[in-house]
Amino acid sequence: MRKSTFLKGTFTLAALALTLGAFTGCDKNGGGSATEIIVGEFASLTGKEATFGGSSHEGTLLAIEELNAAGGVLGKKIKLITEDNQSKAGESATVVNKLISKNGAVAILGEVASSRSLEAAPICQSNGVPMISPSSTNPKVTETGNFIFRVCFIDPFQGTVMANFATKTLKAKKVAVFTDVKSDYSKGLAKYFKEGFTKAGGQIVSELDFNGGDKDFKGQLTTIKAANPDGVFVPGYYTDAALICIQAKEIGLNVPLFGGDGWESDTLTKLGKEAVEGNYFSTHYAPDVATDLSKKFVADYKKRFNGKLPDAMAALGYDSAMILADAMKRAGTTDGAKVRDALAVTKDFPAVAGNITINEKRDAVKAAVILKIEGGKFKFVETVNP
Ligand code: PHE
Repeated sequence: MRKSTFLKGTFTLAALALTLGAFTGCDKNGGGSATEIIVGEFASLTGKEATFGGSSHEGTLLAIEELNAAGGVLGKKIKLITEDNQSKAGESATVVNKLISKNGAVAILGEVASSRSLEAAPICQSNGVPMISPSSTNPKVTETGNFIFRVCFIDPFQGTVMANFATKTLKAKKVAVFTDVKSDYSKGLAKYFKEGFTKAGGQIVSELDFNGGDKDFKGQLTTIKAANPDGVFVPGYYTDAALICIQAKEIGLNVPLFGGDGWESDTLTKLGKEAVEGNYFSTHYAPDVATDLSKKFVADYKKRFNGKLPDAMAALGYDSAMILADAMKRAGTTDGAKVRDALAVTKDFPAVAGNITINEKRDAVKAAVILKIEGGKFKFVETVNP
């Protein structure tokens, strides 16, 4: 008697779990319901770096829509669940935990900013859920573990690219470096730039710090000016970079300022106006140097998002979703470990921001582009191969 009640109870629980699973699409091993694959995305849709999250999300969404329109993956539609971390420290861990444990996401796409990818990566790693960062460039992101991948180059490369650009194109001999100490991206890129620039024979004449979100940079800029540099490297994000360019002009520091991919946002030109003109930054992709694949992407993106031109984050967001779908197809399952194995052997995948080969560190080996700010637009200057 007792036994049968126990069994009955077990059955009821199992049935309940199955029903709940079907309702929420939550099935850790199978990856979604019978008809859907749940993919989680975390992004800075609001807050300080909202243009990063917005662009990246739009690219990702476009890819998922195209995949679903073509029949989906493994006979199922992909359901993208996107969570906003508001550009705030601490939030990425919360939302990624939710995406995995509550929504049952079988893979995670995100983030743009390295510090936020670094928050989520240990969670994905310990849950055995593959994570693909579209555009975080700090080396530590994929060093977190074997479930963490990215579809972009890393900052030791980007730093060297800008160091060579400073020496060869700007003909700079003395450079100041102005770093956001709140950002893993900024600290890393500053370090790699300095190494590259000194190796190329240049001299770092001033090294100063700021905190992302600061409003007044004049004190540090005055110290930098006194060191008489030929240029200032600012490895920060676009809002800070724009304010730094404005205040540099105000104190009469009239040398080129240049940065990395963190500068890429139309907010840089809207906020910085003439103060950012003539300055340079490196990034992943330029819509005006298009392959057939990226031409199609630019056209589709413009059609989907009211004529807007895709930036690097949009292109890489798109690529991150496409490479995940490709790995799931090759794995023949959404099982985390098997998708991980398939991602790890990605080779020459045709992607809109340049073909992707994943190396043994789970990073993509790709070219960088340098853009110049001219007439409020970003003008392609050159491509630098790894
Ligand atoms: N690479 C930056 C980071 O790691 C983010 C970024 C990517 C910014 C692409 C702009 C374009 O934090």
